[in-house]
Amino acid sequence: MGGCIFAACNIRAVRKSSRELRETETLNLIMVTIGNIQLPEFPLLLAPMEDVSDPPFRSVCKDNGADMMYTEFISSEGLIRDAIKSRQKLDIFEEERPVGIQIFGGDEEAMALSAKIVETVQPDLVDINFGCPVKKVVSKGAGAGVLKDIELMVRLTEAVVKSTSLPVTVKTRLGWDDQSKNIEEVAERLQDVGIKAISIHGRTRSQMYKGEADWSLIAKVKNNPRITIPVFGNGDIDSPQKALAYKNKYGIDGIMIGRAAIGYPWIFNEIKHFLLTGEMLPAPTIEQRIAVIKKHLYKSIEWKKGLLGILEMRSHYANYLKGFPGIKEYRNKLVLLKELNEIEAVLEEIECKYKGYMVERTPIEMINYHEKCAV
Ligand SMILES: Cc1cc2nc3c(=O)[nH]c(=O)nc-3n(C[C@H](O)[C@H](O)[C@H](O)COP(=O)(O)O)c2cc1C
Repeated sequence: MGGCIFAACNIRAVRKSSRELRETETLNLIMVTIGNIQLPEFPLLLAPMEDVSDPPFRSVCKDNGADMMYTEFISSEGLIRDAIKSRQKLDIFEEERPVGIQIFGGDEEAMALSAKIVETVQPDLVDINFGCPVKKVVSKGAGAGVLKDIELMVRLTEAVVKSTSLPVTVKTRLGWDDQSKNIEEVAERLQDVGIKAISIHGRTRSQMYKGEADWSLIAKVKNNPRITIPVFGNGDIDSPQKALAYKNKYGIDGIMIGRAAIGYPWIFNEIKHFLLTGEMLPAPTIEQRIAVIKKHLYKSIEWKKGLLGILEMRSHYANYLKGFPGIKEYRNKLVLLKELNEIEAVLEEIECKYKGYMVERTPIEMINYHEKCAV
């Protein structure tokens, strides 16, 4: 079974009672490993998301059960030019490990060099983005643009693998369009040049975000006996029931979650609990929501050093507070305030007003974020 590796060497190294040994064996049997990173059985990954998966957001996802996460994508050229925005995206924190830094680009030398830069901040892995469908990225032969040229994809990957001692993973799509779904070949070729895991978004580049993600090809990659690296499925998972159904139907090693975590980091623990017990956790109370909003806000202020953190948080309030009747009035206030104590006061007002009021998770919106993506 690719990815779920029976770590025999670990077992030999453990000299414990036979009961403890059995427990260790069970533990090792079910672990998913990416190079030297050990993840629990069926890990849940937070997807890289531009302008969303920054350190404050990753922190609340970690608190709520995400097993591994990625930075938003970083341009290899930007990193080399020392663009401040690109460099800031390299910020990672001890408590969020394991964390991967995602890079993109269409030039082998630049990709190799940027992987070296990435290595200096010591993430747990380097991820390559071969999935971004934005025109500006694709036209430079980067992101999903590479899906049209497997040889280039292999060369870029090999250049990154050779330039770093960190495990390298890839995130990609099924192919360029309906006529060229080449993910099975891509997975084999990239494994051959040394990637340690692959995450596959079940759409083609042409689909952008349209239609439903098709996981049947992801399952084919997973079931290919030549593939021994972990295969993570991605696309449209927005409930514990769907996560369980897809786990059973497609046999993947874990799931990567993007949009469903925006404003709802509880999704990770909800899925874990459901997989373990078959029961749904209750939706978060307003107290729990406000506590997470506050933590996100404090982390944002800490990371961005003040006002910028307050401003960046503005885009998150609506997502966290979706579904509460009459919430607009409060949201409108929150996005105008600049003083922390005033924001806290409004959050506390919301907490009082909606005490005992339960709002269920809302399905993910099929937004096409790429349309407004400025990369
Ligand atoms: C706001 C936003 C930003 C994204 N940025 C990135 C990115 O930087 N790198 C990447 O590989 N994918 C990016 N994606 C794609 C997601 O990682 C993921 O593949 C996609 O949203 C499908 O998963 P989902 O249905 O769970 O959201 C982004 C998606 C969204 C919604």
